[in-house]
Amino acid sequence: MSTDVDPDPEKLADLAVELATAAGHRVVELADTARATASTKSTATDPVTDADRVAEAMITDGLLSVRPDDSIVGEEGASHQGGTAVTWHIDPIDGTTNYVYGIPAFSVSIAAEVGDQVVAGVVFNPSVDELYRATIGAGSTCNGERLRVRPATELATALVATGFGYTAPRRRHQGRVIAELLGRIRDIRRFGSAALDLCAVATGRVDAYYELGLNRWDLAAGALIASEAGASVGNLDGGPPLDGFLLAAGPELFGPLRSALRELGADRE
Ligand code: IPD
Repeated sequence: MSTDVDPDPEKLADLAVELATAAGHRVVELADTARATASTKSTATDPVTDADRVAEAMITDGLLSVRPDDSIVGEEGASHQGGTAVTWHIDPIDGTTNYVYGIPAFSVSIAAEVGDQVVAGVVFNPSVDELYRATIGAGSTCNGERLRVRPATELATALVATGFGYTAPRRRHQGRVIAELLGRIRDIRRFGSAALDLCAVATGRVDAYYELGLNRWDLAAGALIASEAGASVGNLDGGPPLDGFLLAAGPELFGPLRSALRELGADRE
């Protein structure tokens, strides 16, 4: 590992690749035991496993051993206040429900933010050995192949991924929105990992993805991967996709889909 503390995005991405692949492989090794002992956190539908905690500790320890003065925020509680401009956002298993059920669509997501800008993002799906990587201004790749969003499509023929939160009132609202949207688009997909949904926009496996209520650790790496593949990424008010509402789509589709989602109140609780 490098001991350079200069926040060069490529070096930050190299470090994230090393830690995400190691953590992803460990998560797969731990699957049988972790699934058997899974518990829940924010609600009865929000699972967590020992593998989430082991992977987050591996990543945190790895970051601190190389860059002890950076800040860290992780889904399972990792929190370190450092003195550099770099903050790492870690989701050790994004798609924990899939992990618990043995569905091969979960990922390790690591992003490096400098100031308020995400400059490097890595998402690793260990089940299919797909490693997504982006650095700001330098494009995004999957296993080294350059990514590009799908060619333009109209709203009526768009394949749109989405996800649902963990509280019943939010889900009911999200269900009402999707019920109406479904009549205006080609179809929907619900893969179960926001980070992989954003990578699916980047690879062109879907035309768009939106979700209400994501956390920074869910979206930071994937949003950079999608935008570096040519997607427009933002909220419904023209702002950045922070911790409220995120829409990612090809530039031509973004406007019509944003209008439809605004009309349906998709960014409200
Ligand atoms: C969840 C997944 C899911 C999304 C949820 C997220 P987690 O993350 O990304 O696809 O719909 O909103 O919370 O809990 O598996 O890390």
